[in-house]
Amino acid sequence: LALAWLLGPVWPGAVALALGVNLALAGALALTRRTEAPARPEPPPALPAPLPRSRAGPRAHPPPRDALSPDALPVAALLTDGEGRVVSLNPLAAALLPGLRAGRSLADAFSVPAARVAELLARATRPGGQPVSEVLETATGSPARLRLVIGPRRDGPGHVIVIEDARELDRLETRFIESQKLHSIGQLAGGIAHDFNNVLAVIAANCELLLERRDEEDPDWAELDHIRQNVNRAADLVRQLLAFSRRQRLEARPVEVTELIADMSHLLERVLDERVTLELDCPRALAPVLADRRQLEQILLNLAVNARDAMPEGGRLSISARERKLARPLHRPGHVVPAGEYVEICVCDTGEGIAPENLERIFEPFFTTKSERKGTGLGLATVYGIVKQSGGHILVDSLPGQGSAFTVLLPAWRGDAATPGAAPDAPAPPAQAIADPAVDPELEPARILLVEDEVAVRAVLAKGLRQLGHEVTDVASGERALELLAQAERGFDVIVSDVVMPGLSGPEWVARARARGVRVPAVFLSGFAEEDHAGGAGNRDPGDAWLEKPVSLRHLSEVIARARSARQPSAADRRPQD
Ligand SMILES: Nc1ncnc2c1ncn2[C@@H]1O[C@H](COP(=O)(O)OP(=O)(O)OP(=O)(O)O)[C@@H](O)[C@H]1O
Ligand SMILES: [Mg+2]
Repeated sequence: LALAWLLGPVWPGAVALALGVNLALAGALALTRRTEAPARPEPPPALPAPLPRSRAGPRAHPPPRDALSPDALPVAALLTDGEGRVVSLNPLAAALLPGLRAGRSLADAFSVPAARVAELLARATRPGGQPVSEVLETATGSPARLRLVIGPRRDGPGHVIVIEDARELDRLETRFIESQKLHSIGQLAGGIAHDFNNVLAVIAANCELLLERRDEEDPDWAELDHIRQNVNRAADLVRQLLAFSRRQRLEARPVEVTELIADMSHLLERVLDERVTLELDCPRALAPVLADRRQLEQILLNLAVNARDAMPEGGRLSISARERKLARPLHRPGHVVPAGEYVEICVCDTGEGIAPENLERIFEPFFTTKSERKGTGLGLATVYGIVKQSGGHILVDSLPGQGSAFTVLLPAWRGDAATPGAAPDAPAPPAQAIADPAVDPELEPARILLVEDEVAVRAVLAKGLRQLGHEVTDVASGERALELLAQAERGFDVIVSDVVMPGLSGPEWVARARARGVRVPAVFLSGFAEEDHAGGAGNRDPGDAWLEKPVSLRHLSEVIARARSARQPSAADRRPQD
């Protein structure tokens, strides 16, 4: 019952079917009692109530008896008498319990004490009681565990028992727990990422300020540069966790998979050992998929690196793509891919394969079988998150010693002009927490209204932007910013605002300012994909820029400059600000 409860939300159909079969079976065994069970004079057979007459037609006939005989049923079932001895069993039950015959005690078939079986049987016949469901170890060990659903016979003392191999249920249960675990870890990761990004933002910006004041001859340069590199690494790890928890910002655009794979082939060749042959098989005319190009590259790279690691002696890595139309949902253990049109990308290797006990866990963050220096266990977690966030599915097939195949199915995109962000665009440069100090862009000073609730982040951003020559007014909330905009005589060139804040979120307060006629471009700094907090994508102005924390001061400064020039005063912008 616990299992039925556990699986209920996921497989209600299966549970309903199992219950239905149990009920049908109880009736069927009762129906055939006279032929299967030894004659018993006293209680009259409990035949089902006559079927109601249909209003229009003649009386409906009950189904022929042998259609519901235990031998014809697709489940294993047996009947016991009041002493727990087997009265009859159908062929499926005999196959699951070899050696058990009519006349023998049911308890003989199991490795538990006979008293335990007797107790279960007694519990099932308690007045007003429910059918008893229990998993027991078999005496023969093959199969090892069986699930019994035990109910009372209606035609006299004894039991109706439905039996099934518990291995499949055990596996489903493990998968369910596993997917729950993935979900919780994802939530946890997404939850801490916001705070963690603020901490990183402060370290990153302070480190950048210290680097700004020095050159490579400085005695502190090497240490500071070391901090810079490691902050970037930490920011990268947080990004991977966010990818896993599906809370990173995806720039979804139509992507030609064939072109993407061709563009990546050089990179892949470089990543692979020379003993590994790379085979590509991608037809030209494939439907595009709506996805974030950089994230798709990440998927292929992570899968290719794993394949490489699985082939230390060399082998073959093949990457293929094709269109796949599913007329019916595709059922895999614990997973259903709904019917629809997909682009399927398959990454197959001839490596060592994955042990069955690991197969359940490979998408878990930090699950790795590699040594500490070789793997963190975030590669597949990232892939999983990106695929899910892109509306896709990932399937794995693996045979130890022979190789593995990872199949990614992404919905095919059929050129819906209304899709937001569908316009082709150059991919953005990779985000870095701290930019390389060697690059020095020319920046024009701007009047910036900075809104950030975290004191430390606000302080260091204000300081850094001032050092870069900007004029900064900083406040701790959207409400305060609105007050300031209502009073301020002088205008601002740009708003830089945090997204998640107590009270009004960044996009919310900016939307209110816009409703009052404020036409200042905004740059939002977000800790993760925060649609929920930001009041939905509806609040977004396509002219605004969104940056992920932690962001380098220089990069922020460049984005501010771009936001300004993109909104050069038009007729509307010359309206007086309030
Ligand atoms: N193609 C493959 N062949 C064999 N085993 C694989 C393959 N891909 C993944 N695995 C198994 O799944 C585990 C998890 O993979 P994942 O990419 O998440 O982490 P990792 O490769 O160990 O570390 P990271 O990717 O963070 O460097 C691996 O340690 C490995 O045991
Ligand atoms: Mg990996």
